[in-house]
Amino acid sequence: MSTQAPIRRMTVPQIRARKGGDPIVSLTSYHAHTAAIVDQHADFILVGDSLGMVMHGMESTVGVPLDLMIMHGKAVVRGTKRALIVVDMPFGTYEESPNMAFRNAARIMKETACGAVKLEGGKRMAETIHFLVERGIPVMAHIGLTPQSSHVMGGFKTQGRDEETWEAHIEDARAVAEAGAFALVVEGVVEPLADRITDAVDIPTIGIGASKKCDGQILVLEDMLGLNPWVPKFVKTYGDLGPAIERAVASYAEEVKTRAFPDEEHVYR
Ligand code: KIV
Repeated sequence: MSTQAPIRRMTVPQIRARKGGDPIVSLTSYHAHTAAIVDQHADFILVGDSLGMVMHGMESTVGVPLDLMIMHGKAVVRGTKRALIVVDMPFGTYEESPNMAFRNAARIMKETACGAVKLEGGKRMAETIHFLVERGIPVMAHIGLTPQSSHVMGGFKTQGRDEETWEAHIEDARAVAEAGAFALVVEGVVEPLADRITDAVDIPTIGIGASKKCDGQILVLEDMLGLNPWVPKFVKTYGDLGPAIERAVASYAEEVKTRAFPDEEHVYR
């Protein structure tokens, strides 16, 4: 019999209970090895559909297929032990009807063994969020700049620059919270609006390009590591992996071309 206490993952109710408490730490991750590193520090890890752009070179998240989310979701669950894993529902897999959303969310949860799903949209998705939560699927909501609607928004545009739009965003936040979402990503909105949203709901807000007063923060891992050639203005880079990889590849190429690499590092004897 094992004498070691099992490591328990962070749960949805534990994240929910952090409203107004210790800030929630989160990052995206798309594959097992980076997820294992992030797992040591994050309360939840999002397998975001940004993987379409970051990993697969797509121009937006609109083209991301469900199977791809499931494949990366499985890898992240395999690589982690502690964090709650949340998997994004990609565009076109939940908007049509609550039934369709349930079918696809259930597939994500069963095949990846993640702990929750995330979907974009405020008031218009409230009925679906309620339907999913009632049937055992925890939902993280996402409002403000919602990348899956970038074609309607005319690009990846900061929301709430016009104060007259604030009430609609606050109503979106209230609607998803009342529908049963356990947390709410608030992306790309002006700071005073983000603060109003945080004050308006009793679930944790997770800011990205929003406000440091949100109940938690999330960043795309590759952005904050300096691995992405195009990084949004609000992102602080905590590493310089892009240039570091370039330097390593250049050294390797030079050693191969000049046959300068030490034999013992490249051959079995
Ligand atoms: O897909 C993603 O990475 C996200 C975060 C930016 C919140 O939704």
